[in-house]
Amino acid sequence: MNHGASYLKPFFARAYAKINLTLDVLGRRPDGYHELASVMQTVSLADTLLFRSLADGGTEFFCDVPALNGTDNLVYRAVQALREATGREQGVRIELQKQTPTQGGLGGGSSDAARVLLALNAWWKLGMSQEQLMDLAAGLGSDVPFFVLGGTALVEGRGERVTPLPDLPGLWVVLLKPSVAVSTPAAFRALTPDDYTTGQATARLASALRADDLPLLDGLVIALEARICQDYPMVTEGRVALVEAGAQVVRMSGSGPTLFALFQSLEQAQRIYQALLQRGWQVWLVRTVSQAEAGAADPYLGPGDEPFSEQGSQGML
Ligand code: C5P
Repeated sequence: MNHGASYLKPFFARAYAKINLTLDVLGRRPDGYHELASVMQTVSLADTLLFRSLADGGTEFFCDVPALNGTDNLVYRAVQALREATGREQGVRIELQKQTPTQGGLGGGSSDAARVLLALNAWWKLGMSQEQLMDLAAGLGSDVPFFVLGGTALVEGRGERVTPLPDLPGLWVVLLKPSVAVSTPAAFRALTPDDYTTGQATARLASALRADDLPLLDGLVIALEARICQDYPMVTEGRVALVEAGAQVVRMSGSGPTLFALFQSLEQAQRIYQALLQRGWQVWLVRTVSQAEAGAADPYLGPGDEPFSEQGSQGML
């Protein structure tokens, strides 16, 4: 096979999903977005991306979920954003295998986009700083900048201000996705000033993590949760199912509808996961993912890794 001079060995990268441990909505902004304060956390549920060189230039994209397989996918748009910012024409084919449910509040599409920015920045030796990548990320969507960093982070503004926090002590996470699709714009639009929160829940969790205190997980607040539960009875049913199965801390992630429960003990998490699975709920048993691990989700971007070589000697295929 002749791949041409610019051939680089194909490689896989992982795009972790997130949960919002807290999500304070402080108010509506003049630009129509909402001012947020949130502690976000990557979890081990992940999509898989394959990057492959195209000798003839151009961008090809394939996603195994037909509804997501098009040029309006954030993966494709992330490549285009990088090309516009840098003038790069190098050809790339990206294949995306989805594991993270869409419209679930778990940031799957945003994470895929951030992984593309990070991976191509390294693969094409673009030399963009984290700040520049975050700027590009913010142009793609409010949740994308967080995923440039991953781990545990304080996210503010529209989502573009991301401050790393010390990693949350490792926890097991049961995710339950009620079978309803919630549109994020509709969820935000439905909010009234009564739903706005002060930001205290986020500030409290951020200070506890910074002080190395074990955070009080029952103080977590998700501003969108009450209204989504009210509008979508299936979400309330999911919450009741988790509590009846024995989960103590149950919250909704982002604009939902996915619910999460946190556990220190795998035994307990496993018991609850099995019980919900048997009752026919769509559930996953995952864990929190640290910032170092999220950064290493790309074979070439982990701590101490050398940048890509033309030979692609570390390639996975
Ligand atoms: O930025 P993104 O396109 O992902 O946001 C989707 C929608 O979610 C926005 O159109 C807006 O309705 C809502 N949103 C918001 N405030 C934010 C983030 C998102 O109102 N901070």
